[in-house]
Amino acid sequence: MHERSDDNHDRTNGRGGVDRRFDVVVYGATSFVGQLVVDHLLDRHGTGGNDAEGGGLRWAVAARNPQKLDALLTERGVELPTIVANADDRDALDTMVADTSVVISTVGPYALYGSKLVAAVAAAGTDYCDLTGEPHWVQAMMDAHQEQALETGARIVPSCGFDSIPSDLGVWFTQQEAHRRLGRYCDRIGMRVKGSSGGVSGGTVASGMNVMEELANDPSLRKVLGNPYALAPEGQRRGVRQPNVLAPTVDELSGSWVAPFIMGPVNSKVVHRTHALLGRPWGDEFRYDEAMMTGSGPLGLVKAATVAAGMAGMAGASAIGPIRRQLQERVLPKPGTGPDEATREAGFFNIRFYGRTEDGRTITTKVTGDRDPGYGSTAKMLGETALAFLDPEAANDSHNLPSAGFLTPAIAFGDALIERLVAHAGLTFTVLDET
Ligand SMILES: NC(=O)c1ccc[n+]([C@@H]2O[C@H](COP(=O)([O-])OP(=O)(O)OC[C@H]3O[C@@H](n4cnc5c(N)ncnc54)[C@H](OP(=O)(O)O)[C@@H]3O)[C@@H](O)[C@H]2O)c1
Repeated sequence: MHERSDDNHDRTNGRGGVDRRFDVVVYGATSFVGQLVVDHLLDRHGTGGNDAEGGGLRWAVAARNPQKLDALLTERGVELPTIVANADDRDALDTMVADTSVVISTVGPYALYGSKLVAAVAAAGTDYCDLTGEPHWVQAMMDAHQEQALETGARIVPSCGFDSIPSDLGVWFTQQEAHRRLGRYCDRIGMRVKGSSGGVSGGTVASGMNVMEELANDPSLRKVLGNPYALAPEGQRRGVRQPNVLAPTVDELSGSWVAPFIMGPVNSKVVHRTHALLGRPWGDEFRYDEAMMTGSGPLGLVKAATVAAGMAGMAGASAIGPIRRQLQERVLPKPGTGPDEATREAGFFNIRFYGRTEDGRTITTKVTGDRDPGYGSTAKMLGETALAFLDPEAANDSHNLPSAGFLTPAIAFGDALIERLVAHAGLTFTVLDET
């Protein structure tokens, strides 16, 4: 690992009083979404404690390519410490995480490039958050490193972008409000995407295509990807049959036509992990799914059919190796590229949670974001999650929860992360109605 920096702080600010040189390192700072995370941290903290005055956030940018790191800083006209580490180089990763309280990783596909870093943070007791939407990889990491993370105190929180923060914290929020207003938790919640606008990056495409590649090589992964409880602790990976919108349907919860939502199977697993880590207070019958609302009447049906057909077509085409490779090479965005600034700024998301209690009471809540979901909003959510690790007041101390190991955003931070996201990431959480 090559590392350079002009300053040399020796403050004590790591976990459990351990002296760590950096509060936060953005690993993958040269990636499409990593650059946006850097911009968010610059907006929030400038170069922080790295400048002459000191006292602020001590943070660094890290990636495999030193020239790209230099260009990133030159473009922004700022100086920050840089760390060069290849995802394959365990020694370099060990040195990086030993120096750091919280590592943010945007180096994906995570199943290809993320495993050594997770092993390193678990061993070093370093907190970690990422943007993975690859649940089979998260399950493998959990099974390999949970025990060690519990021993060292590392908090490992995967999926801190649009996948899966709005879903995880939206359900958490809805359940807290249901308990407060209706006197009990919902045993059924449906998340419905009412509207969104944005684009897709090459990195996200690469991650999706890599899942298809892995499935082709190892069909047994289908079982993991198809199990809504796949991210629950070992021994708890089963439960009641979950609803799943696979085709255009008139939704019993919203009354709208709905179509499958591509990230539903990923987000649902995170929600069920949260429920399992809470000790299943929402009941053994708790059911959750996600879908896209397309409106009422014939137009709603046509839109739902179009979305469903598009998804089925894409899934079918990308399941076939040669077509998948052609799509990646010729049609879809390349790694390092994604929606431009105007698209990100004009983007948004607006999702609903329809909750039902066993005795027929209802609650509807809304979560919105003020940038495109996948990048503008995602970068702010990820940056704020990293900052939450540094705030001892942000730890979720309700429900006697685990304070180390593989956590979800709701389990690690709960209401404190909601407050942060509302204050600093352009999200809103609102109760629309209750009956
Ligand atoms: N959860 C969500 O909502 C969400 C949203 C957006 C993205 N994502 C995920 O986030 C990840 C990043 O997306 P993106 O669009 O920013 O991707 P990207 O631009 O393609 O970036 C991938 C990064 O990985 C780095 N990398 C590749 N191999 C490496 C290695 N061996 N060692 C070190 N670094 C290596 C690349 O380095 P170079 O810069 O040197 O090429 C690049 O910075 C993807 O997995 C994507 O699926 C998730």
